[in-house]
Amino acid sequence: MHPTQAKDRPAATPPPVPRLEYPAPAARRQRPGETITHAPQQVADGTAFTASPAFPPVHIADADVPAAVGRVLENVLADRVARASRVDPLFARDLAERVRRFTQDGGKRVRAQLLWWSHRACGGDQSSAAAALRIGAALELLQTCALVHDDVMDAATLRRGRPALHTDVRAQYTGVASASRAERFGEAAAILAGDLALAWADDLVAETDLGPWTATVVRRMWSDMRTEMVAGQYLDEQGQVTAAYSLPRAMRTACLKSALYSVERPLALGAALAGADATVMRALCSAGRNVGIAFQLRDDLDDVFGDSRRTGKACGGDIREGKPTYLVALALTRARADCNRRALAVLERALGNESLTSSGLDDVREILVATGARAAVETKIGQLAAQGLHHFNAIRLDPEARVPLRQLLAAAAGWPEPEIADGGAATRPRPGCTPAPVSACAQEALR
Ligand code: IPE
Ligand code: MG
Ligand code: MG
Ligand code: MG
Repeated sequence: MHPTQAKDRPAATPPPVPRLEYPAPAARRQRPGETITHAPQQVADGTAFTASPAFPPVHIADADVPAAVGRVLENVLADRVARASRVDPLFARDLAERVRRFTQDGGKRVRAQLLWWSHRACGGDQSSAAAALRIGAALELLQTCALVHDDVMDAATLRRGRPALHTDVRAQYTGVASASRAERFGEAAAILAGDLALAWADDLVAETDLGPWTATVVRRMWSDMRTEMVAGQYLDEQGQVTAAYSLPRAMRTACLKSALYSVERPLALGAALAGADATVMRALCSAGRNVGIAFQLRDDLDDVFGDSRRTGKACGGDIREGKPTYLVALALTRARADCNRRALAVLERALGNESLTSSGLDDVREILVATGARAAVETKIGQLAAQGLHHFNAIRLDPEARVPLRQLLAAAAGWPEPEIADGGAATRPRPGCTPAPVSACAQEALR
């Protein structure tokens, strides 16, 4: 279907994806007098990671969660790369090392931080700390897989301010093979690198010692999360090739491909590790879903209007690829409703046009502003952020841990910091109220 002919209805607000039910945690909550033990487990270099004295006290991780997750990743990845070297040194150098570098050197560990603070806010302590850091580290590896594959699918050459993994491999082999073969090889290598990262992430989850109830819930959530992300990426790609520019579809895609694995599931995993009850779990999921969708809508705006020095990604990729984002679907809907022929013509020329010039991209920007699509997406982000924090503020959580968790959520949703100071009226944002423009750091934090 032609991009400008797709049928649209007003966008559904979340949740556009059915919720999955998990066994009630109450059955596994610690009863008076009962000790839930986590046997020390051997990981990577043989270090015991659990409630054993070898594991750092929980307040050390509280003080610097990215560093604590980084240490787990360092140990696990050193072990995996060493084992990869024994399998084959060339494979280890070209692929395993790249996966290690990509995971260790990039990102701010926001998913792992969300998991950690959700776990702490739900009462998680020393007994579950090791598991929380390990599952957090696994989320970082899952993110490596997602991004490495995503850059191949989106033909993106820049990631975190550096060449995307497939571009880097291509550069290494240019001159050894013809340009076209080197390009295909770079993509093949990136598919394998992403697979490797996913396999390592899964191993890490499987090798984490959990009590029986927690193991059931965490593994099920992990499995669902992977499937949701793949489903979202498929909808994104399929929508691109079929020009499926509808608002409900764009919202659903944003939720599946990003909101769930970036925010909602990390919160749910942390809550499950702490044995949170169903009410808390549900409220955290609602908060995470709203914030997660806000995050993706911001990412879509940044793709068109952002500064690539800040995002670390090239500008305009979504337009050149013809991505069916909420922003684009909204512009098309409005242009059609207003019979705005010029806007429709500009969008039609630009969407999916790989050789779109920078002045062509400027024309698209102008249309996105003139149709009011950009402003409407900003408003939507504000509403989602407010709604997400509204859900969050309704939950009774550990008073100390809720503060960093709320800050993380606010940053991911683009809520300005002063608005979330403890105790003020602004800690209870009303649904529908719009926050000030987003601070740049939030989006960089997640990717
Ligand atoms: C990708 O969405 C989501 C996943 C990686 C699963 P995008 O394609 O919009 O992400 P960026 O903009 O490349 O980071
Ligand atoms: Mg992308
Ligand atoms: Mg993508
Ligand atoms: Mg994007």
